[in-house]
Amino acid sequence: MRRGRCSSWMAHDPLGHALGRSGPHIRARHVFCWRQKQESDMTGSAKATVFIDNERVIVTEYRFQPGDNTGWHRHGHDYVVVPLMDGKVKLVTKDGETFAEMKKGEPYFRKEGVEHDVISANDGEYAFIEI
Ligand code: NI
Repeated sequence: MRRGRCSSWMAHDPLGHALGRSGPHIRARHVFCWRQKQESDMTGSAKATVFIDNERVIVTEYRFQPGDNTGWHRHGHDYVVVPLMDGKVKLVTKDGETFAEMKKGEPYFRKEGVEHDVISANDGEYAFIEI
């Protein structure tokens, strides 16, 4: 799996469907790397369920079986994650790997531009909601 700088981004909806080359006219929660997408299937194995998607907000649940991942992506908007259960996720970025403890019901905020893959590091099912 290639890491590092991406020369061409492809906007995708949260289910991994291509929306077109990224640009100011593209409104997407996740922008996957087009070059990576061509070289391998970067859409992860986690199940994404879109609950709300309108002009103002996108709310998506991500549900992981052990070892599932989101796939490498770039956040096209500021976002808030609300863990639905206690657990741990592995965050893979171009700078390396870190683990994050997730607390049920304890939201956290991140700014637009985060690039990573998120991998469940739990023995059982894991889930969070992203807003
Ligand atoms: Ni993310």
